[in-house]
Amino acid sequence: MTNLENAVTSNSNRFAPRVLTGDRPTGKLHLGHLFGTLQNRVRLQDEGVDLMVLVADYQTITDRDSPASLPEDVDELIADYLAVGIDPTRATIFAHSLVPELNQLMLPFLSLVTLPELLRNPTVKDEAAGSGMPTLNGLMLTYPVHQAADILFCQATIVPVGADQLPHLEQTRAIARRFNRRYAPDHPVFPEPEALLSDAPVLLGIDGRKMSKSRNNAITLAASADETARLLRQAKTDADPNITYEPKTRPEVANLVLLIALCENVPPATVAAEIGGRGAAELKRRATEAVNEKLEPIRLRRAELMSDRGYLRTILQDGSLAARAIAQNTLEQVSTAMHTNY
Ligand code: TRP
Repeated sequence: MTNLENAVTSNSNRFAPRVLTGDRPTGKLHLGHLFGTLQNRVRLQDEGVDLMVLVADYQTITDRDSPASLPEDVDELIADYLAVGIDPTRATIFAHSLVPELNQLMLPFLSLVTLPELLRNPTVKDEAAGSGMPTLNGLMLTYPVHQAADILFCQATIVPVGADQLPHLEQTRAIARRFNRRYAPDHPVFPEPEALLSDAPVLLGIDGRKMSKSRNNAITLAASADETARLLRQAKTDADPNITYEPKTRPEVANLVLLIALCENVPPATVAAEIGGRGAAELKRRATEAVNEKLEPIRLRRAELMSDRGYLRTILQDGSLAARAIAQNTLEQVSTAMHTNY
């Protein structure tokens, strides 16, 4: 974990700054994604950093069968990306299943990790427990190695993620280090990428738990103005009519204050002071207004994009072709280092 300036420069001796991040296509993105990572990505892109964005379709089959809805889920994800400002003329949007050379890297990488290390990964443990699966399948156990391939195939140096992804970043760094040490001590093939955590606090959903696709407590970027108003009316608050920003003791009220603050780009304490004694109804009214104002242009762009699915597919196919060229180049360096380039 590091700040942006360090992340951009620390690998700079040998590796150009490159940002890689991605999402599982398992449902529409929501406000938690917007403030937690999407805005960070757009900011990096606008600063001129090379941005790669992965539609992590093979990672969806860790705990479920590949559903018939996958093509639509992929389109929705790409529409979310473009609607928030990821620009396909500057960023590369691609999918696991369209970049075979990325997937091929998983094989040598698997030889560089140990079973105890895989079994220890706390994020995998949580997901396995949450999935209700009776036993760990091989991909659930090893997908962090596949995620290392996502990051290392393009020699990414910066990975904007949420805190739950830090174990995967540590695993990735270990793989890069071990590969370089074992096969390429004089000319490292892989950088040791840095995680970039958003400084926005975690947003809670309308039920007061972490906002999450799987918990049905999220306001999606696609939600209509009416749906947003309905969801926020249901949001949990507390009995104290005086609105304050105290995340520790009043998490639900603080969360709505934070939501307004993030949408309006002002400090949460200012928002709380403005609402003061006017109570939870006013808090929810302000939150609805702020979210709807923030989401309106995103919704409009998104709806337009979803009406041209052919365009979305072209973006993904073109991006995946560009990613393949990068992956082929890396695989060649790997083959040379591993003495398999006959
Ligand atoms: N595991 C990430 C998530 O669940 C998605 C992901 C896949 C990812 N590959 C990645 C994130 C590579 C960052 C880098 O959100």
